[in-house]
Amino acid sequence: MRTLGNFIAADDATEWTAICCQRIALAIKNKLSHKKNFYLAISGGNTPKVLFEELIRGNYLNPELWQQVHFFWVDERIVPHSSDQSNFGNAMRFLKQLPATFYPMYREELGLDESLEVYEDELQAVPHLNNLPNFDLILLGMGDDGHTASLFPGSAGLEETQKEVFVNEIPSLQTSRITLSFPVLQNANEVFILLNGAVKMKIMQEILEKQTNYPIERIFAGKNSKTWIYYN
Ligand code: 6PG
Repeated sequence: MRTLGNFIAADDATEWTAICCQRIALAIKNKLSHKKNFYLAISGGNTPKVLFEELIRGNYLNPELWQQVHFFWVDERIVPHSSDQSNFGNAMRFLKQLPATFYPMYREELGLDESLEVYEDELQAVPHLNNLPNFDLILLGMGDDGHTASLFPGSAGLEETQKEVFVNEIPSLQTSRITLSFPVLQNANEVFILLNGAVKMKIMQEILEKQTNYPIERIFAGKNSKTWIYYN
């Protein structure tokens, strides 16, 4: 069995959501107890939607702590924030109630190229380590094909090591998405890998047993702390 971080199994969606929110709040409190500003990068898709709702519903952090939290995105679809495909739009339905600071990857009014330029600049405001943005925490999901962020099997972006954020062509979806690159994901202080369902748990088991070609495997090139939080 490979040692690939910590594993927290929840009994069901309710427990999973509470554990994720408690762990996120704990990471923020711990850092802000001795330093200012917490830099968080969140993924999109369906899995984390319940987290954002619970973060608002539950009293996990005082407003003065949320005021020091900077929300970045791990990846984004190139659609207006009003689209139900927008990771930013879906998260902000809930997160907008928090007195935090939010950095959308894509801004329709700027267009793709300028959105990327702005996001690259905003990433420079994140404290750096190894000449890369050093997020305090990154929340990752995983697809049924083992992709994470928008780093899909068969996409050129798997090999991107120069850019911190870029547009990745995704053959399996016949579309492109904006994504952080693996060097940035590997450079975070802590990564939570959040998943549910039998298909994803099978992939997790496969990865635990042996080296695989799933894109998410590349996260383990980073020497940072990883925690899998999952339920079936
Ligand atoms: C996205 C996400 C993506 C997600 C996985 C899992 O933009 O879709 O960032 O990487 O984490 O696709 O998605 P689900 O949670 O919807 O299964």
